[in-house]
Amino acid sequence: MERTFLMVKPDGVQRNLIGEIVARFEKKGFQLVGGKLMSISKELAEQHYGEHKERPFFGELVDFITSGPVFAMVWEGENAIATARLMMGATNPKDSAPGTIRGDFAATVGKNIIHGSDSPESAVREIGLFFKEEELVNYSKLM
Ligand code: CMP
Repeated sequence: MERTFLMVKPDGVQRNLIGEIVARFEKKGFQLVGGKLMSISKELAEQHYGEHKERPFFGELVDFITSGPVFAMVWEGENAIATARLMMGATNPKDSAPGTIRGDFAATVGKNIIHGSDSPESAVREIGLFFKEEELVNYSKLM
């Protein structure tokens, strides 16, 4: 079992896409183990996107992700990280296939609806940045 961190960005929340996005992962067969609607501080945004610090669009990225509420989630399932990336579609919506979240709902690379961890290391780091262990549930006792 693998866990991944996914986040509906401010544009997705504003466009009322939380339910649509959650439904896609539920129907795929993944389990939601944590979720919250929250505002991101500038500090958290800079930590989360630390690897992009030198990019020319870093300031824009931080301004955008702190511009309104996001819906942060942790999902669990077999190959959850890679499968979620596939379901999200390419980062730049001009390359994301129809049927993917970005392919269906996003038109620009800055406002691309959803973020998802790109590796097991990123998933651990991002889950730790956004969630306390006690905010995540454990279903194993029910199965
Ligand atoms: P995300 O998966 O959240 O991780 C980094 C983000 O940087 C990416 O999604 C894009 O939204 C954003 N990004 C990448 N390239 C650009 C760009 N040229 N201009 C603005 N934002 C960008």
